[in-house]
Amino acid sequence: MSALLEVSDLRVRYGHSTALDGVDLTVGEGELVAVAGANGAGKSTLVNAVAGWSRGRATATGAVRLDGRELAGMAPHRRTKHGIVLVPEGKGVFEQLTVEDNLRLVQPPKNAVGKRYEIEDIYEVFPQLPDRSSARCSTLSGGERQMVAVGRALRAAPRLLILDEPSVGLAPRLVLTVLRHVRDLVRGGLSVLLVEQNVKATLEVADRLYLLERGRVAGSGTASEMRGDERIAAAYLGGLTG
Ligand SMILES: Nc1ncnc2c1ncn2[C@@H]1O[C@H](COP(=O)(O)OP(=O)(O)OP(=O)(O)O)[C@@H](O)[C@H]1O
Ligand SMILES: [Mg+2]
Repeated sequence: MSALLEVSDLRVRYGHSTALDGVDLTVGEGELVAVAGANGAGKSTLVNAVAGWSRGRATATGAVRLDGRELAGMAPHRRTKHGIVLVPEGKGVFEQLTVEDNLRLVQPPKNAVGKRYEIEDIYEVFPQLPDRSSARCSTLSGGERQMVAVGRALRAAPRLLILDEPSVGLAPRLVLTVLRHVRDLVRGGLSVLLVEQNVKATLEVADRLYLLERGRVAGSGTASEMRGDERIAAAYLGGLTG
């Protein structure tokens, strides 16, 4: 059976500089796949290319397939209809609106292909949120805000939820809370592609992990394989090797 998401030989350039240099990656149905790597390794470029957009003038070549269907050239909003929903780095909520309005403003597309999440479903996923439903997002903690951002993405009925550093700026104990919520979503049948700097916490929840280095996949494997990878241990787990 083919993967839900299949990226092959993806190359992205910003002008003359190459940000992704031939990346292959898959996400299976019901899988939580993580991407880690240093600042500037190309993680955001990768997930943005899957969602069909870029922050600058990027040119992309290679294949991005969802369920075997080629997405190259498809506009971001059409990809969303096909179930690819991205929460970009550091974005995702309207600060001046309440939690509930943030969630209500997103309507699932007609003929949504992914699972629909009603507001109540999202409150069930994130039990911290109902108490804050009429609070403005500007008053939320970082962790709560990320939960709203993910909640908004769920409202769009994703088949593949893509999260770009959902834990950025969060206190360490909140990082795992957010990631465990993500794991719960996967348990409920969702497929997730997760970009994370906190590799230690990520390896507790992910099925597989790809390590990106300067636009290339430097290593990939199951969470337990990657926990034993020397480069991961040295750079991310405070190991003594490398
Ligand atoms: N809009 C742009 N124009 C030109 N170069 C860019 C642009 N966006 C990213 N780059 C470059 O592409 C490379 C990959 O950047 P990218 O943002 O994908 O990295 P990242 O792994 O997400 O990093 P971080 O961990 O800091 O978020 C970097 O060298 C970056 O400077
Ligand atoms: Mg990034």
